[in-house]
Amino acid sequence: MHYPWWYVPNLTSPMLIALIATVHVFVSLYAVGGGIVLAGEVSYAYKVNNKSLLDYLKSHTLFFILLTVVFGAITGVGIWWTIGLASPLATESLIHIFVFGWAMEYVFFVLEIVSAFIFHYYWGRLDAGTHKTIGWIYAVAAYISLVLITGITAFQLDIGNWTPDKGMWVAFFNPQTFPQIIARSGASLLLASLYIYLHAAFKLKNDHQLRALVENRTSKWAMAGAALVTIGGAWWYFNIPPSAKAALAGASALNILSILVFAASAVVFFMLFFGPYRNPGWINPGFAILYFLLGIAATGTGEFIREGVRKPYIVYNYVTGNNVLVSEIPKLQSTGYLNGGTWTKAFMKAHYPQVFDTTGNIDDAKLLQLPEGDQVKVGQVLFQYHCNNCHSVGGFSGVAELTRGWSKDMIHTVVTHLAKAHFFMPPWCGTQAEAQMLTEYLASLSEPSPPGMRFGKAVNPALKQLADGTLREEGGK
Ligand code: HEC
Repeated sequence: MHYPWWYVPNLTSPMLIALIATVHVFVSLYAVGGGIVLAGEVSYAYKVNNKSLLDYLKSHTLFFILLTVVFGAITGVGIWWTIGLASPLATESLIHIFVFGWAMEYVFFVLEIVSAFIFHYYWGRLDAGTHKTIGWIYAVAAYISLVLITGITAFQLDIGNWTPDKGMWVAFFNPQTFPQIIARSGASLLLASLYIYLHAAFKLKNDHQLRALVENRTSKWAMAGAALVTIGGAWWYFNIPPSAKAALAGASALNILSILVFAASAVVFFMLFFGPYRNPGWINPGFAILYFLLGIAATGTGEFIREGVRKPYIVYNYVTGNNVLVSEIPKLQSTGYLNGGTWTKAFMKAHYPQVFDTTGNIDDAKLLQLPEGDQVKVGQVLFQYHCNNCHSVGGFSGVAELTRGWSKDMIHTVVTHLAKAHFFMPPWCGTQAEAQMLTEYLASLSEPSPPGMRFGKAVNPALKQLADGTLREEGGK
């Protein structure tokens, strides 16, 4: 609320983050898992002196670099843009708390890019030992960047014992860090294997023997990955804060997605075992694509759930979903939401100077004297600053749809009891007068009940009697 708002029509800005971040994760997990598998497989190929395997690994490395360095870097920057615009306060907080962590992240990122390029472009020009070492330098650098970033996203879900006076490492080693690192390490190995199947299915279409070798060796990494995902996922689930567990149980979308993750993961696991592990050479291009899409679906869904259960916070118990510091809520509730934010106050000063008192603060009584049309406009500003992170107007989680058929009283009651209506909403952070303005705005959007529904009049005579209370008397009771 201390920054200008950014409204993404029909979608809400956090859903735009989710879209970009999900695509990014598909590639960034591959960047980590692929690095480990490539370093391991290149070491193996040198050891057994298998020239054709080395050639295949070289062609895979080019595919890997193009996808991870180019596409991964673009989507990574895209995440920074969207989180900065959608959740400026949360982004600012995470930058401040983890400033040294981000610095380390960038160092390892540069190391990753440099070693990846050397690994590929100096292929055949370095002796085996040096080449392997470069591969492992890449793998370790990429893995450390996964560890760093995961500690930070884990902190968002549970800050543990951290308080603002404590340093970065207390924040980093929060209760979620290890479970999430394990789950993501597993996902990175599993996903990297699916990329290798996909690439090998096309590239080695006519070389059955080599493809069988690649598939069989990759399947071991994949199964290790699947085991880590299971261990990390279970550990994650048993360690999430009660609010997250309740969100998981309470939101129907998350229920369905959780079942989807389990189903997709189980299918991938069985296909792994009976496919490339037991019957190497099985995977044709169509099968590889199907496999890959299932893996992508499971990863995307898993990441979506991890983000989805965090409500009502962006950073647990620290920054709420609508970009308010938890510590500043009581003040906003007493002196007003519009008064508390730099931009909202400036807006009010510019458009409605008459609502300010002599001390330069907004006066609730004067606010209520604004003509109705202006009250709706002020309500819209309140909506953008207080609700738009989670609700669009008429699209994703649209308030016009959610309040369909509601009376003003009902809207007002929910606005002033947000956190009581649903624990995954932050509390109402404004004054009663502000709640009134927001209610006017929401009521102006709210659609009537869909026409043609017959709940109002009983059409069945017996039901009519039941509704009138006459059925009882006739029954003689
Ligand atoms: C942190 C996210 C978040 C914020 C901020 C938030 N909400 Fe919600 N709200 C939700 C979720 C999630 C639901 C459940 C409905 C859904 O799944 O779309 C919900 C439901 C609702 C409903 C339907 C309630 C019901 O019982 O059916 C209304 C009305 C509503 N919100 C209004 C608001 C208003 C007004 C604001 C701003 C003052 C707001 N919300 C802020 C997340 C949020």
